[in-house]
Amino acid sequence: MLNFELKNPTKIIFGKGQIANLAKELPQDAKILLLYGGGSIKTNGIYEQVKTALDGFDVVEFGGIPANPEYEVLLEALKVIKEQHITYLLAVGGGSVIDGTKFLSAAALYEGGSPWEILTKSIKTEKGMPFGTVLTLPATASEMNSGAVITRAETQEKFSMGGPGLFPVFSILDPQVVASIPQRQLANGVTDAFTHVLEQYMTYPAGGLLQDRFAESIMQTLVEVAPKVIAEPTNYEAAANFMWSCTMALNGLIQKGVPGDWAVHMMGHELTALFGIDHARTLAIVAPSHYRFNFEAKKEKLAQYGKRVWGITGDNIDEIANEAIVKTEAFFHSLEIKTTLSEYTEDYKGTAEKIAGRFTERGWLGLGEHKSLTPANVQQIIEMSY
Ligand code: NZQ
Ligand code: ZN
Repeated sequence: MLNFELKNPTKIIFGKGQIANLAKELPQDAKILLLYGGGSIKTNGIYEQVKTALDGFDVVEFGGIPANPEYEVLLEALKVIKEQHITYLLAVGGGSVIDGTKFLSAAALYEGGSPWEILTKSIKTEKGMPFGTVLTLPATASEMNSGAVITRAETQEKFSMGGPGLFPVFSILDPQVVASIPQRQLANGVTDAFTHVLEQYMTYPAGGLLQDRFAESIMQTLVEVAPKVIAEPTNYEAAANFMWSCTMALNGLIQKGVPGDWAVHMMGHELTALFGIDHARTLAIVAPSHYRFNFEAKKEKLAQYGKRVWGITGDNIDEIANEAIVKTEAFFHSLEIKTTLSEYTEDYKGTAEKIAGRFTERGWLGLGEHKSLTPANVQQIIEMSY
């Protein structure tokens, strides 16, 4: 097992009716900026619950943060933070609103030049403006981690950022919010969380016996609850297990002491930036090809996953590992998630070269758990995903 440090300061408040307890988590004298997305919270009752809980607080609102939070829109919110002397941020939404809020938390206290540098210069935020979240969509685990992904439509770029100062102070997780989530977003949530586990697990045996079993149990739980949540989003028990699995998939715990890959996400982000494909769907496009391309390096973990998560039997590692990739694709298909790029866009030709070129320009020359995946390899993997 590798050495590690673990500190996750986010307080989770989980369960039915917990939005009503919001006021207890906020400083009485805070000047709060309430941030939300395209307006789903106005039709599903979450906005009213939050506003009722915020009664008596000094609150300014900023709505309209789009999916794949857009830099230009966030700059408008930054202006509001400065002009209105905001001291506390409250994100009410899914990964996009929470990530946008993390960017603002960092940008509000940033003393360098343009806030875009936080993304392009990979600046780690040690201290941000404090913020809390009310999660409305289980998927990213942004509610309990310190990372964010920000998009700039103008240049078709999507960059990650983070730092120890960007954990939410608290996050309220009421599984009842799942009831109003459209099927497409439920399928996205399952796929994103499942792939988060794969990125931290599908490497090589590293002696993290407990970490492996944490990871396998999250995947098994997602496989078990996904059909129930999708058939019946009002099923509270299914929603609660779905929500907690998504949070646990990327709150830092399962990656401690073991190697991580993350190349699927790096490639997937480019597909969102170029074509606007939903984040989770880009992962389903790239992951099977990534595992086939890196088969020799990953086959032992692929076979372990095949046996333990999918119940594949036999003695031949290669056969079990191959079957595990097929099962993974079938799982995505069962969620009505398509797994090739050409099913999302007719304009896919040349994409692999373009992405490989971008990775070369940015100096991303060695990805994956061995830091050995070159831009030429990336090109081959994307071509296999067409
Ligand atoms: O904008 P509104 O109107 O709120 O509608 C949203 C949006 O259209 C809707 N929605 C959310 N909660 C709902 C709801 N609709 C009905 N009822 C509810 N209760 O769902 C749509 C998608 O929301 P979004 O926040 O974009 O989805 P998600 O949570 O999947 O977040 C995706 C973003 O997170 C980033 C992705 O790259 C992408 O930009 N990621 C963040 C990560 C992190 N911070 O750790 C890790 C991930 O790998 C990922 O990269
Ligand atoms: Zn993801």
